Amino acid sequence: MRIAVVGASGRIGREVADVLKNQGHEVVAITRSAGVDVYSGVGLGQALDGVEVVVDAANTATTETAAVRDYFRTIARNIQQESVDAGVRRIVVVSIIGIDAFTAGHYAGKLAQEQAYLEGPVPVRILRAAQFHEFTEMMLDWTTQGDTAYVPQTRTQLVAARTVAEQLAELAVAEDAPDRLDIAGPEQLDLAVATAKLAARRGTPLHVQEILDTADPNHQAQAGGALLAGDGAVIAGPTFEQWLDRNYPVR
Ligand SMILES: NC(=O)c1ccc[n+]([C@@H]2O[C@H](COP(=O)([O-])OP(=O)(O)OC[C@H]3O[C@@H](n4cnc5c(N)ncnc54)[C@H](OP(=O)(O)O)[C@@H]3O)[C@@H](O)[C@H]2O)c1
Repeated sequence: MRIAVVGASGRIGREVADVLKNQGHEVVAITRSAGVDVYSGVGLGQALDGVEVVVDAANTATTETAAVRDYFRTIARNIQQESVDAGVRRIVVVSIIGIDAFTAGHYAGKLAQEQAYLEGPVPVRILRAAQFHEFTEMMLDWTTQGDTAYVPQTRTQLVAARTVAEQLAELAVAEDAPDRLDIAGPEQLDLAVATAKLAARRGTPLHVQEILDTADPNHQAQAGGALLAGDGAVIAGPTFEQWLDRNYPVR
């Protein structure tokens, strides 16, 4: 099958592309580095020529609410529009568990993306994933100041990006599959505790401090478990400890 992966060089997109290629599918990589911009639409129609399924794993570094909503809404509309013209049969998009009540930042943008996709004519399958194990790496990158990382209080059910990619690939190729599925890891965790374990393996930063980010209007939902998996979610390993051992072995 000829399958386009939007964001094919990203954290999740490269895993999806790898899984699909290993299964013998032809992958069309859609990234700005490859000359295709799903926000402006430049090169998108041409890239979708002959494509049967699109997997959207794009991202933006923007976190300001209006901008992130505009980005995700626009890419959903552009991908829907060009998919109709190209005769694409379905679109699979990776979203995030528990974001229904979120009104700000990245999570609000993802909600706007889901809604925009569902307004389009091409059938859409949405896989809502919990935060990835790899999210702890992002936390250290984003929040470290001096010798301390400041991690917002978050209950989560971390899941490996590779595990999410395998589920996305299955949704891409299966003739019968649910339109909406949640996937999470096997344990409920405090994000700061998991991030501190990663910092200890890396040897830096020295400290990880959990903070309540009261500037974020959704901080209570995030701290209170809104991002945890509900009934019916696919629960799949590896655990965070297994992922750590594999990627950051004790020296
Ligand atoms: N991280 C998590 O814990 C988590 C959990 C659940 C769901 N998700 C979702 O997974 C998605 C992917 O996240 P990620 O962390 O894997 O992303 P990432 O590593 O930041 O990668 C983003 C990808 O999107 C491409 N891209 C960005 N803007 C583009 C544009 N205008 N046109 C075409 N390609 C574009 C990038 O390539 P170029 O820069 O070359 O364009 C890159 O390949 C996000 O929507 C996120 O909400 C993430």
